[in-house]
Amino acid sequence: MEVIRHDVVLVGGGGAGLRAAIAVAEADPELTVACLSKVYPMRSHTVSAEGGAAAVAREDDSPELHAYDTVRGSDYLADQDAVELFVEEAPIELTRLEHWGCPWSREEDGRIAVRAFGGMSVERTWFAADKTGFHMLHSLFQTSLKYENIVRLDETFVTRLLVEDGRVRGVVALDLRTGSARAVLGRAVVLATGGAGRIFPFTTNAAIKTGDGMALAYRAGVPLKDMEFVQYHPTGLPGTGILITEASRGEGGVLLNANGERYLERYVPNKMELGPRDMLARAAILEFQAERGFKGTYGPYVHLDLTHLGEAKIDERLPFVRELAIHYVGIDPVKEPIPVRPVVHYMMGGIDTDGNGATELPGLYAAGECASVSINGANRLGSNSLSECLVFGARAGRAAAAFAREVDDRNEPAVPEQARDEEGRIEALRGKSGGERIVDLRREMTSAMERGCGVFREEDEARHTLQTVAQLKGRYTDLGLEDRSRVFNTEIVSALELGHMLDVAEAVALAALERKESRGSHTRTDFPARDDENFLKHTLVRFAPQGPKLDDKPVTITRWQPEERKY
Ligand code: FUM
Repeated sequence: MEVIRHDVVLVGGGGAGLRAAIAVAEADPELTVACLSKVYPMRSHTVSAEGGAAAVAREDDSPELHAYDTVRGSDYLADQDAVELFVEEAPIELTRLEHWGCPWSREEDGRIAVRAFGGMSVERTWFAADKTGFHMLHSLFQTSLKYENIVRLDETFVTRLLVEDGRVRGVVALDLRTGSARAVLGRAVVLATGGAGRIFPFTTNAAIKTGDGMALAYRAGVPLKDMEFVQYHPTGLPGTGILITEASRGEGGVLLNANGERYLERYVPNKMELGPRDMLARAAILEFQAERGFKGTYGPYVHLDLTHLGEAKIDERLPFVRELAIHYVGIDPVKEPIPVRPVVHYMMGGIDTDGNGATELPGLYAAGECASVSINGANRLGSNSLSECLVFGARAGRAAAAFAREVDDRNEPAVPEQARDEEGRIEALRGKSGGERIVDLRREMTSAMERGCGVFREEDEARHTLQTVAQLKGRYTDLGLEDRSRVFNTEIVSALELGHMLDVAEAVALAALERKESRGSHTRTDFPARDDENFLKHTLVRFAPQGPKLDDKPVTITRWQPEERKY
């Protein structure tokens, strides 16, 4: 088995991962960083982010106001010390990214242009038209190329963390081009693998977002935090789930039901289309339940009307929205409203970390969507996540570099036994005989998740989902695979991803069942009120061989006492 050694091992080549890699490389040119990514980095999901990245830019704004909006948006479940760090560092990171080449859109007078986003009190979302993620990722990628100490291992799928003597020692990864497992050893490991939207049937998330980093950390004993909080974006295209950015509403787009009403009058009259996502997603589903949605092949939908913005503005500010609507639903938004419906977009929960991305396991760090720092609590505000990737990617990279420099290396194992075990586990999947098919288990998992852990939840369905996922995990052991080839054996990848998704899905379902209150994106029809007395706390789900175990930890409150969340 090939064994490669680096100082820091970075898993994930998206916004948080590349920012962390650059931070390590800058912190110490003597350290080498292996950057492992399941896909070529420019195909990471960051590339598809559209609307923008939040940071204070104007005189009418302040870090305090950005922090308050974020805490209120989180329904008071965010850790306020982490939020305070975040809002201070976000403008620095976005400015730095411009120096690295990110072409932020500008006002006529040369200032950075900012647009409105949901739940924010003022305009503070920086953008590059509506292809912000594409430009941010390009800037990070090209910057990473100038560091010789960043060594990329593209199309390399990490399947296990190596842990010995109470600290992380590296990873085992499948080289997709050769089909061979490798051990990539390092004194610190940073996970930046993104979210897990693919545990649901209908999502804006790329096919690669299968909760890999979350499952790796969880299996290594690190708890997953606040997994019950799953964000539905109010405006996805029916059928594909492709994101129609919130920037459409920030630029003045309106939502209409089948009666032609701006139905948000009924739900968030003071914010309307710029209300927070949890409230807008619930509003759309309630409209559907009241039979005020349009009926379509893929279920009910509402209209997002941009026609009044005019062609020039749409082409300048929302060219990608126009492109997507024309190509995927055959509608030109200059002339007609776009059909949209709520769609799974983001996991507020993830690997439990502190403000430096450190986990409970010495040497293991996490950043980006796979982590829960937590600045998002029960509901993230749109455009905070791209900034979060930069701020906490950089912090995790610097902390990992410091750990790698300081740690005593003398007892580093040669080739850990665990690595050989993992190689055996992967090999055993090649053409494995068994009675179950990946596609069936996956379909059953996603539909169970939608039933029990969708926008509205209640006891019986959530319990049923949890039981279904547990049964699917049992059936997973009898998986049958047909492809025995080595080069780009995507069937093995799908099988490994399914294993990750089942672990993550189980954590989501357990946490959703046990949080008997409604807060942010977690709406229990049987417990409709927020219950600070019993549930102002983070949920932790810990791995145990016999099934996941629930734990909790307090929320850090610095300046903003919980109050009713009103807009
Ligand atoms: O709608 C959007 O552009 C999404 C932004 C976000 O999730 O932060």
